[in-house]
Amino acid sequence: MNKKIAVYPGSFDPVTNGHLDIITRSSELFDRLIVGVLKNTSKPCTFAISERIAMLASCTRGINNVYVAGFDGLLVDFMKQHKARVIVRGLRAISDFEYEFQMALMNRNLYPQVETVFLMTDEHYSYLSSSIVKELAGFNADIKSFVPRSVMPYLNKQRTARAKKYSDSSKTIVKKRRKH
Ligand code: PNS
Repeated sequence: MNKKIAVYPGSFDPVTNGHLDIITRSSELFDRLIVGVLKNTSKPCTFAISERIAMLASCTRGINNVYVAGFDGLLVDFMKQHKARVIVRGLRAISDFEYEFQMALMNRNLYPQVETVFLMTDEHYSYLSSSIVKELAGFNADIKSFVPRSVMPYLNKQRTARAKKYSDSSKTIVKKRRKH
C-alpha cells in the first residue's frame, strides 16, 4: 500500500498548544507524520535542538504515527530522505499567508512532486506563537494553557536564567552610579 507520509516542519522554539493541535489533527489525515525540527534557523533559537526535540517527543508520545526528527539544510531534501511528498503548515491570521505562500511555491519549484497542505489553526490558538509564549514566560505570566506540560520545565529554566541575568545587570548599573 502507498502510505501517505507528511512532514510538519518548523523551528518549534518551543512547541505550543497551537502546534500540538496541528500535529494531532494532521496525524489523523496521514499514515505517518514526521515533525521536522530545523536545527539551524535563520533567527537565533532560545532552546537547543536537543531540547526542542525532547519537548516535542514528550508531548506527542501518545500519538502512534507521529515521529520527531531534526533536520538541517533544505526541507525538500529532508522530504526526499523520508519519501514524503506532503508538507503540513498551520495558518493563523492573514499575516501568515504571504510568507507561507512564498515558501510553498519555492518548495514546489525545488521539488515539483511536493504539495503543501495548510490547516487552519483552532480559533483558540490564532493569537499564539512561540515568541509570545517566551515573552510572557519572561514576565512570569501564567502560560500553562498555551504550552504542553512537557514544555513548562524548559520555560521555567529559561525564566530563572533570565531573572538572574537582569538581577546581575541591575547590580552593574548600581555600581556604576556609585562611582559618580
Ligand atoms: O516555524 P518556522 O520557523 O516558521 O518554520 C520555518 C521552516 C523551518 C519551515 C523553514 O524555514 C524551512 O523549511 N527551512 C529549511 C530551509 C529551506 O528549505 N528553505 C527554503 C524554504 S522556501
